[in-house]
Amino acid sequence: MTQDEAKALVGKRAAQMVENGMAVGLGTGSTSRMFIQALGARVQNEGLKIRCVASSDASTELGRSLGMEVVTLNELPELDLYIDGADEVAPGLALIKGGGAALLREKIVASAAKQFVVVVDSTKIVPHLGKFPLPVEVIKMALPLVERRLADLGLNPKLRMLKDGSGPLLTDEHNYILDCHCGVIEDPEVTAAEIRSIVGVVEHGLFLGMASLALVAGDDGVQELHS
Ligand code: 5RP
Repeated sequence: MTQDEAKALVGKRAAQMVENGMAVGLGTGSTSRMFIQALGARVQNEGLKIRCVASSDASTELGRSLGMEVVTLNELPELDLYIDGADEVAPGLALIKGGGAALLREKIVASAAKQFVVVVDSTKIVPHLGKFPLPVEVIKMALPLVERRLADLGLNPKLRMLKDGSGPLLTDEHNYILDCHCGVIEDPEVTAAEIRSIVGVVEHGLFLGMASLALVAGDDGVQELHS
C-alpha cells in the first residue's frame, strides 16, 4: 500500500466515526484532506447533518467547497470530535504536529473537542518524538529573541521559509514558524514547558495528553492505538 493509499484509507475510516448531528473539528494536512473529502461525500450522498469548525483557512475552504457547513468557534464553541493528522505519534499518543504550519489553530480546535482522534499512516509511528523538526509559532517581533532562547536550549531552530524561498512562511495567524531540529526529545513535558516559558512564543507543536485514539493505516489495514 502506498502512503497516499494509506492516508485515503484512514481518512475514510475516520469519516465513518462521524454521526448525524455532531459538531466536528476538521484538521489540516494531506491526511485530513482525505478525511474531509470522505466526510463531504457522506454529507452529499447520505444527507449527513453536521456542523464543522476547521483548523486552517485551507480546510475551511475545502469543507465549504464540498457543501459542508463550516463555522467559527464563536458559533460552535464545543465540538464532539476533532480529527486531524500528525507528523509523529509516540507511545501514549504524544504527538508532533505543525508540519503544515497550522499547529496553533489545530491545538485550539483540539482543545474545544470532547474527543481528538489522530489519523496517520504507519510511517508516522515512532518510539520517541523529535526526528521530525518540532515547529514553534512565534510573534514576528519576537523572532530574534525566541530564536536565541531556543538555540540556548539546544533546540537548533530554523526559520521556516516559503517553498519558493521568497521569504519566511506566515501562518494563518500571521506569525512565523521556527522548526527545531533537536533530535530525540527525551522528556517532551519538560521541553514543552521550556518552550512555553519563552516570551514571544505563541504555541509549539507538542500535543501531549490530548489525543485519545489514533487510527493507523498500513499494509494490515487500519489499527487502533489508545492513549
Ligand atoms: C498540519 C499538521 C498535519 O496534521 C501534519 O503535518 C500531518 O500532515 P500530513 O497528513 O500531510 O502528513 O500538523 O499543521
